[in-house]
Amino acid sequence: MTWAEYWNGETTVYVNARHKRVHYEAVARDILGYLHRPEARVVDYGCGEALAAHVVAGACAKLYLCDSASTVRDRLNARYAGRSDIEVIDPPAFERLPSRSVDLIIANSLVQYLTAAEFTGLLAAARDKLDAAGRLVLADIIPRRVGPLQDAAELLRFARANGFLLPAAGGLVRSFFSSYRRTREECGLLQFDEAEILGELARAGFSGRRAYPNMGHNRQRMTLLATPAPHGAVHTSPAIVGSAGNPAGQLQLQPAGH
Ligand SMILES: C[S@@+](CC[C@H](N)C(=O)[O-])C[C@H]1O[C@@H](n2cnc3c(N)ncnc32)[C@H](O)[C@@H]1O
Repeated sequence: MTWAEYWNGETTVYVNARHKRVHYEAVARDILGYLHRPEARVVDYGCGEALAAHVVAGACAKLYLCDSASTVRDRLNARYAGRSDIEVIDPPAFERLPSRSVDLIIANSLVQYLTAAEFTGLLAAARDKLDAAGRLVLADIIPRRVGPLQDAAELLRFARANGFLLPAAGGLVRSFFSSYRRTREECGLLQFDEAEILGELARAGFSGRRAYPNMGHNRQRMTLLATPAPHGAVHTSPAIVGSAGNPAGQLQLQPAGH
């Protein structure tokens, strides 16, 4: 199963309805922190079910909810039908948006599910769509040292604070046998250390920096805030960034537990 197939099916990442609700409420709150102008045009890229998208839409002029999974888009279309300030789109429709027509692009918990080539393509498209003063937020980026154990600990901490600790513990047991774990083992996740992803952003024509805290609940993961680099400088050298654990500088697709 590919990640695209996984996300188009019934997923098991939320242990219950409460988990899903508090997750999307937290993400919407965090997006509001990046929204400073009511006239902003915003894209939530890889938005998932976006249960609190109405909160974000209330603070901007236009919210595009972009997701590659048709099942997700169908649910979003049903939920937000009749709201002219929310438009549900697929990635090709994002590509068709006019250049410089967007003020803020949020991609939370998306990058890890892309191939290296898809990630490079997303950065290029984002650079094209963003206004000169626009901002790209890449959130929930998984550093190379972070694996399923740290993810489990972070989920339990979030669950304890939000009243679903027991369901979360059960959910972790179930997830061990889930298609999420199998897909994570088969396809891996796209992981970056901070310097590597800043290098990727620079090559795509962005000035980037780490932003704190990470969006959502996972403190082990990273958020990067990027703006179009002055003078439109886009580096065209190959996407190679070295690191201690990756001296050859290849982007790594790491299977779970590595
Ligand atoms: C882990 S969910 C994150 C959802 C949401 N952003 C959040 O904060 O919870 C990942 C979402 O990204 C979508 N996705 C995966 N690959 C994508 C791609 N290449 N383009 C757009 N969306 C994608 C999936 O369908 C899924 O809904």
